[in-house]
Amino acid sequence: MTGFPEKRKLRIIVGISGGSGIIYGIRLLEVLRQLGIESHLVITPAAKITLAAETDWEVSKVEKLATVSYRINDIAAEISSGSYPVDAMVIIPCSMHTMGAIASGVSDNLLTRSAEVTLKERRPLVLVPRETPLTIIHIENMAKLAHAGAIIAPAMPAFYHRPKSIDDIVDHMVGKVLDLLKIENNLFKRWTGASSFLVQESDQ
Ligand SMILES: Cc1cc2nc3c(=O)[nH]c(=O)nc-3n(C[C@H](O)[C@H](O)[C@H](O)COP(=O)(O)O)c2cc1C
Repeated sequence: MTGFPEKRKLRIIVGISGGSGIIYGIRLLEVLRQLGIESHLVITPAAKITLAAETDWEVSKVEKLATVSYRINDIAAEISSGSYPVDAMVIIPCSMHTMGAIASGVSDNLLTRSAEVTLKERRPLVLVPRETPLTIIHIENMAKLAHAGAIIAPAMPAFYHRPKSIDDIVDHMVGKVLDLLKIENNLFKRWTGASSFLVQESDQ
């Protein structure tokens, strides 16, 4: 007996807040499921509005993608305590409201409380903000969270992989998040240098 918990699956908290780009969160849940990784989902009320505005998904279908789904006000849920073993947390998309609440230590719902716990337990916390332009308040909140150990990974599409569809753009972002969590994935075409398309000096 070591006192350590028995071997278990990777366990990740997925928070979905009311920033635009809820499809990123849905895709992350799909991929975690495909990879056999345990996902613990918290969706904010505002995210249910963006879900209806931006997709044809129903809330219940999104919740079914997760291993466990919690009510936002269930402040006594297991993920609200640092004693419950969790490997990492991602908030995708992360609204400026949720970002500000976490940065100020306001943990008045299960999402912000779980993020606070993730930080205090020194576990990886990846935040995927989506807003433009940014105010100095947004920027200072991000800096504060980065100082506290969070990884700020804004939803900023790249074009070097020549995306052909929205799915390509979404998979690129989700793949980057998985990379940050050191979860192997082939969701996007990686940069392999410029030699394949640059004209060599000798060819000119
Ligand atoms: C369609 C729609 C799109 C939104 N897009 C953003 C956004 O990109 N970024 C953001 O920070 N807030 C956005 N908001 C505003 C947030 O949903 C709002 O600030 C909300 O209070 C966030 O609450 P939450 O952090 O608890 O989810 C959007 C709202 C709606 C209805």
